[in-house]
Amino acid sequence: MHTFQTRSTPRLVSGPGVLGQLGECVGSVGGTHVLLVTDAGIVKAGHVGHAVGVLEEAGISVTIYDRTHENPAEADIEACRQFAEDLPVDCLVGFGGGSSMDTAKGCNFLLSNGGRMSDYKGYGLAKKAMLPFIAVPTTAGTGSECQSYAVVSRDGSHEKMACGDPKALAKVALLDPELTVSQPLKVAWLTALDALSHALEAAVCTRKNPVSALYAKEAFRRIASGIEMVLQDAALLEHRASMQLGAALAGMAIENSMLGAAHAMANPLTAKYDVVHGHAVALMLPEVMRWNREERSAVAVYLELAAMIQEPLIEWVEHVIGLAKLPDLAGCGVTREAIPELAASAATQWTGQFNPRRLTEEDFGGLYERVLGG
Ligand SMILES: [Fe+2]
Repeated sequence: MHTFQTRSTPRLVSGPGVLGQLGECVGSVGGTHVLLVTDAGIVKAGHVGHAVGVLEEAGISVTIYDRTHENPAEADIEACRQFAEDLPVDCLVGFGGGSSMDTAKGCNFLLSNGGRMSDYKGYGLAKKAMLPFIAVPTTAGTGSECQSYAVVSRDGSHEKMACGDPKALAKVALLDPELTVSQPLKVAWLTALDALSHALEAAVCTRKNPVSALYAKEAFRRIASGIEMVLQDAALLEHRASMQLGAALAGMAIENSMLGAAHAMANPLTAKYDVVHGHAVALMLPEVMRWNREERSAVAVYLELAAMIQEPLIEWVEHVIGLAKLPDLAGCGVTREAIPELAASAATQWTGQFNPRRLTEEDFGGLYERVLGG
């Protein structure tokens, strides 16, 4: 028998309109002055104005930082810290997509423990207490609201650093599906495919345990019930709610286990060809699942998931990804000649180690070739 231990998860406050409870949530963690970390698009959509109204009504002061960038780098986190350092902030709210969450979490490391983000690459390196953090996602994808890691690019090299600490985990994840209605269609597609891949990779990875398996399966069930409607731009609020909760549960699955080879193969595509993360993972996922079919433990899980949707799993995944009509690998500029370098990079990615069936650098090359060859 294996031994295992679980990690904490945030308190979830979920359902249409729960943004109205943000003041209560901040109060419950002792917050009186919030730094609300977001981006200009979310402000424009009107959500930030609504959140500020709710907080002020609860007697809580708010300062808005709306200069979050996509794929934040160390300099972006430092800019947020400098903005906040002289404010009497006692609570952070990450309000937006994964980048707002990562910037808020990263800022929390620097405000409370000093230094720079690369000092925290790894897990559990923050010595001092951190400020309470509340996550309010406006996309249904990364699951960052339920993870204790901030993903930040190293200045200069663009290396994606995972900086984790149990103290960085959100105290509350507030999941209001009404906030996801305004996300641009392309963002909805790419984040949905990312969330799907999180559930599918976490469900079979070698770090899985009975608790992460529960999260991954329920995440898959929720995501599967909403994703086709989202990809066909026909999602009702109930589909969005399903996706949002599914993405958060997938985040909990990752927090309690790991990911796999599709994420390992996606990272070099993002780093070298600027392929957006959800797109890059979606390109790789079906071939990685075919590769995993040789591993009995993965097959057992795939069969369970297939029974939930009553369709062959890999074919269904390909169908769903096809609905997004994304460019293929060649369309992203990848040529056969580039494969050795991509394979070498994929083989060094941490997440790949936890794929249920092991891959050598050569195996990664073979999978890229299969994807490229169609
Ligand atoms: Fe992902």
